[in-house]
Amino acid sequence: MRIVTSIGEMRDTVRERRGAGQLVGLVPTMGFFHAGHVSLMQAAREDCAFVVVSLFVNPTQFGPGEDLAEYPRDLDRDVEMAEAAGVDCIFHPEAREMYPERFLAYVEVKEAGEVLCGASRHGHFRGVATVVAKLFNIIPAHRAYFGLKDAQQVWVIRRMVRDLDFDVEVVACPTVREEDGLAMSSRNIYLKPEERKAATVLYRSLRLAGDLVAGGERHAARVLEEMNALIAGEPLVRTEYVEAVDWETLGPAGMLRGEVLIALAARVGKARLIDNILLDVPA
Ligand code: PAJ
Repeated sequence: MRIVTSIGEMRDTVRERRGAGQLVGLVPTMGFFHAGHVSLMQAAREDCAFVVVSLFVNPTQFGPGEDLAEYPRDLDRDVEMAEAAGVDCIFHPEAREMYPERFLAYVEVKEAGEVLCGASRHGHFRGVATVVAKLFNIIPAHRAYFGLKDAQQVWVIRRMVRDLDFDVEVVACPTVREEDGLAMSSRNIYLKPEERKAATVLYRSLRLAGDLVAGGERHAARVLEEMNALIAGEPLVRTEYVEAVDWETLGPAGMLRGEVLIALAARVGKARLIDNILLDVPA
């Protein structure tokens, strides 16, 4: 497995592979791998002849006061895990390679970047869209793999690809969970044991939503109320939002029908955790 740090070398490598007729897959990451990241690498490995994982803790998607400086990092372990997953190449640039002095161009996906997580993380999705646009230009892959754990991110990237005509297929992969349901996240490492236990209420609340809808409930407000009541039983968990939105528009869903995203964000100790489920609600 090769580790490439320069944009020029990375682009040449991928062009060569494309020229040789190989299908190229890209898995963008910020490292500190867990089974969620590995599932994306495996999906890419199954589809593609050449798999590139980008590993870059992107400063522009962190707000002031967020965890950029202490974001967990372990390059040696990441390299081992990527190698074991059959990855061909890791792109691991320095921040100054990605953001030269006087960097001025940003990509913004309006509205959608301002709801759900975007409402509290100002500029977050602008940073994500910008770095992913750069990665698509540096690593001209046929397919790029993202996790539905970050459903709004998938939405934003898909819209950017559609609106700006990027020639890449965005593949969305299911959320990988711990045995007790907690969505895997690099940030779970911030949780103390009692917080880790309390955090399981998040997925339990999403399952409750699924059960209510399966039982015929169609009013979003009632579903959200029950979810909030369940989460309120865990004093270590403070929700930032619990929302139901239309998966096509990300607009609020009053009545639940069609593809609905039920998403939440919560603070547990010093971790900010997100989770969601996608429901296909029959009329
Ligand atoms: P990061 O948080 O490292 O996640 C990299 C990819 O792994 C994302 O597509 C994310 O959705 C996926 N992922 C994380 N946890 C997952 C889980 N439990 N199950 C399935 N997939 C999971 O997301 C980012 O990095 C960055 O915003 C990035 C897209 C790399 C841009 O900087």
